[in-house]
Amino acid sequence: METVKTKASLQATLQPHRNRGMRIAFVPTMGALHQGHLALIRQAQVLADVVVCSIFVNPTQFNDPKDLEKYPRPIEQDIRMLQDVACDILFHPEVNEMYGPNEPWHLDLGNLDQVLEGLHRPGHFQGVTQIVKKLLDAVQPDIACFGQKDFQQYKVVEHMVHTLQLPVTLKMCPTVRETDGLALSSRNVRLTPQGRQQALALYRTLQQTKAGLEKKDLDILRKEAIAALQNSPGVQLEYFAVYNVDTFDEAQEKTSNRPLVALVAAWVDGVRLIDNLLLQ
Ligand code: PAJ
Repeated sequence: METVKTKASLQATLQPHRNRGMRIAFVPTMGALHQGHLALIRQAQVLADVVVCSIFVNPTQFNDPKDLEKYPRPIEQDIRMLQDVACDILFHPEVNEMYGPNEPWHLDLGNLDQVLEGLHRPGHFQGVTQIVKKLLDAVQPDIACFGQKDFQQYKVVEHMVHTLQLPVTLKMCPTVRETDGLALSSRNVRLTPQGRQQALALYRTLQQTKAGLEKKDLDILRKEAIAALQNSPGVQLEYFAVYNVDTFDEAQEKTSNRPLVALVAAWVDGVRLIDNLLLQ
């Protein structure tokens, strides 16, 4: 694997591949890699000839400076993991390679910026779109892979790609979980063993909602899920919602032709966790 730290050396590394007509797939990450990230790399390898992974802890998407400071950065371990899955190129820039001083950025994200993650993490998706645009410009991939784990982030990137007509195909990859259901996340390492157990309530509740969909009204399911999470020891619920996948607004009723997704965010052990499940 080749590791490059500047946009210029990335271009120089990719050019011979482009000249030979090879397809390039891109997996952006913030590092502290786990099997969820590696599944994206493997998916990218199936879809393209050359895979670029980026590791960049993007300061503009952290609304809490302490979260940015505490974000794990085990770069040596990350490099070994990427080598083990035979990733071709790692782009690992410094902050000043990606940002000038006080660069302005705003993209109209409509309701995506007003609800759920957008509401609870003001400015987060502006930061995400700012860096994903810069990374896509730097890599110029044919395909970019993102995880379903961050469902709203995928919708946000999709919105940006459509609005700015960016020449890239997006691929959403399924959430990778521990055997007990906990969605893998770089933040899980900050959970205590007790918190790790308590965090299982998130996925359990999502599954109960999915299982109940045949028999119960959405309103009832929503209320039951919220009550279950509020009564879960160690869990501080931020939101639980059932949304239409396509329009990303709150689902009013079940219809056979409109896919739904249940989404949850909660704090466990001072760690903010998110998860989601497609209901049909
Ligand atoms: P990060 O949290 O490192 O995630 C990188 C990619 O891995 C995202 O597409 C995310 O959805 C995916 N991912 C994380 N956990 C996963 C899991 N358990 N299963 C499947 N995929 C998973 O998301 C970001 O970084 C940043 O916001 C980024 C897009 C890199 C912009 O800075």
